[in-house]
Amino acid sequence: MDRRNFVRTAAAAGLGAATGATAAHPAAHAGPHRVESLDGAPYVRRSHAARPIVVSDITGYDARNGGPMNALEMAYSRIVAGDDVLDALIAGVNIPELDPEETGVGFGGLPNGDGIVQLDACCMHGPTRRAGGVAALEGVRTPSRVAQAVMQHTDHHLLAGRGAQDFARQLGFTIEADLNTAESRRLWLEWKRRLDSSRWLDPAERAQASLDAGLSMLRDGLIAEHSFWGTISCNGINAAGDIAGVTTTSGLAWKIPGRVGDSPILGAGLYVDNDVGAAGSTGRGEANLYNLTSFLIVENMRRGMSPKDAAMDGLRRVRANTVERRLLNDRGEPAFNIRFFALNKQGEVAGCSMYATGESQYAVCTANGSEVRPLEPLLSGSD
Ligand code: GLY
Repeated sequence: MDRRNFVRTAAAAGLGAATGATAAHPAAHAGPHRVESLDGAPYVRRSHAARPIVVSDITGYDARNGGPMNALEMAYSRIVAGDDVLDALIAGVNIPELDPEETGVGFGGLPNGDGIVQLDACCMHGPTRRAGGVAALEGVRTPSRVAQAVMQHTDHHLLAGRGAQDFARQLGFTIEADLNTAESRRLWLEWKRRLDSSRWLDPAERAQASLDAGLSMLRDGLIAEHSFWGTISCNGINAAGDIAGVTTTSGLAWKIPGRVGDSPILGAGLYVDNDVGAAGSTGRGEANLYNLTSFLIVENMRRGMSPKDAAMDGLRRVRANTVERRLLNDRGEPAFNIRFFALNKQGEVAGCSMYATGESQYAVCTANGSEVRPLEPLLSGSD
């Protein structure tokens, strides 16, 4: 949707009354009061007027699934129309999840080493301080919705594998035998072809051969970086200052079956604190898991750092803790990219990455529509 049409559509959805700090939102006054959550449970909202904004990695800008809006525009327009902020974000990320041409997320995501699409997702609802996640989920195109259902219907945070699928089936989600598309299957076959089976004897070499085959396909332009580590992480704030976030992914392409990345793990792929802000991540999940970097970034913002400074500090932590030789390039720096998207209570955002190479932009949506911005790199050069 072009900017003029987006502004007109958003205005029709009540944008004019909801974008400014002076918005006449029922919760836009100081002090806590008791309200109903999205599923009816009472909670205390500490109000804070804000200017709505949604921030995500570039997938939130690029994928449209043949429709007029990308994920950011869908989430933003629903936020300003008064929807719950997490409901709005999940409606947004459903667009790339359902898009068969988006090979890093949901339906048509690149499969694991056995050719089976296994999906990870989590979400966090700032106002109720609740969260849900699924890991290694097969057969459901929209894992973000199952993650939200875990949050709403259980006392748990994370369901994995067969249990997550059974839970989804019990709640009426459609379970499909295979989430591959012709394209994701074609690329998996190409990856198999590039593997040297004679090197599968040693576990370490096998893992390295798998990574090398994938990276060679990246270099040859067969897959994009955002498909290899494919993820969308999307955070947003509404006019009342309520914050939520969602991260959803098909995970590392051709991963060892059962491998779970950072996306469904609270504090790693996503963290939200309604008093402070939110942070989410894409890129090499293992590096993020070792550092719980999204939690670190939110804690940095709690101590007064800007989103950019907080995210840069997170990147410095990842860099400092990357010491294995195989994970370092010839300059002794991390041989992978990782990105963080941070949003604070004032609606300020930042997108920062280890390097400015590969996927080098992130995206935001405000009253002016969605736009891409350059990621701010910690290090020069490339991984
Ligand atoms: N960051 C996505 C993954 O590593 O699975």
